[in-house]
Amino acid sequence: MSRPEHQAPPEVFYNEDEARKYTQNSRMIDIQVKMSERAIELLALPDDEPRLLLDLGCGSGLSGSVLEDQGHVWVGIDISTAMLDVAQEREVEGDLLLGDLGHGLPFRAGAFDGAVSISALQWLCNADRTSYNPTKRLYKFFSSLYSCLSRSARAVFQFYPENSDQMELVTSQAMKAGFYGGIVVDFPNSTKAKKFFLVLMTGGAAPLPKALGDASETEGVSYTNKREQLKKMRGKPLKKSRDWILEKKERRRKQGKPTRQDTKYTGRKRSGRF
Ligand SMILES: C[S@@+](CC[C@H](N)C(=O)[O-])C[C@H]1O[C@@H](n2cnc3c(N)ncnc32)[C@H](O)[C@@H]1O
Repeated sequence: MSRPEHQAPPEVFYNEDEARKYTQNSRMIDIQVKMSERAIELLALPDDEPRLLLDLGCGSGLSGSVLEDQGHVWVGIDISTAMLDVAQEREVEGDLLLGDLGHGLPFRAGAFDGAVSISALQWLCNADRTSYNPTKRLYKFFSSLYSCLSRSARAVFQFYPENSDQMELVTSQAMKAGFYGGIVVDFPNSTKAKKFFLVLMTGGAAPLPKALGDASETEGVSYTNKREQLKKMRGKPLKKSRDWILEKKERRRKQGKPTRQDTKYTGRKRSGRF
């Protein structure tokens, strides 16, 4: 089957039907969440400090939810109204913007402490209109991203490059915009688990983070589980527990967002009967 970005422009491909999959297809949701967790790990943020982050091509807000679960505040931008509608339905905490990354980012210089992007970057390598020049669009995007990040911030993109030319294209435009970094390939020997992460750094040249294992390790290595264990060790409440929900509601209140009152029922397990 042809790649999604060859079928239609993103704002057309990500219509209501496609967007619905991001709430209903558990396999898809699981993959998005795992890739988001790995991207955040590659951001190498200081422990236990909430940061202001960008989610580029934030779509239905699955990746954003992972950011907020880890205590961060985020702003998301996406070109598809259907995907953003789903994000709103899911009541994500992040602020959502409708926009085309290829037009550049409309943010104040140095405003963000980092950025993640899950499965969106390959779309920018496509010329969906005759007037589109992918090289120019990528450069515009990366240079605006560079300027809205604080110095020492990183941006991590999980993406699906079509070939080595595309990897070269995105990397060269990012470097031209001022970034350091390169591509980290997790599980390079596994057809299924292989994942590409473009890791961009602002504060000068630094070694790239280590990639995760090879095919033989994929079954034994679970960075999600490792993260959960670390989280428990640091005394953070487990996801979906009453404490976790109370913390999340408190964060929403601090952000001035409408939030239901806490009651004795908050976070209580449902019986499954209606
Ligand atoms: C695979 S989805 C990402 C899903 C997202 N991480 C989530 O949690 O739902 C890719 C997203 O990239 C967005 N996208 C593609 N090209 C874009 C562009 N030029 N500007 C902004 N968003 C774009 C699409 O609309 C889509 O929502």
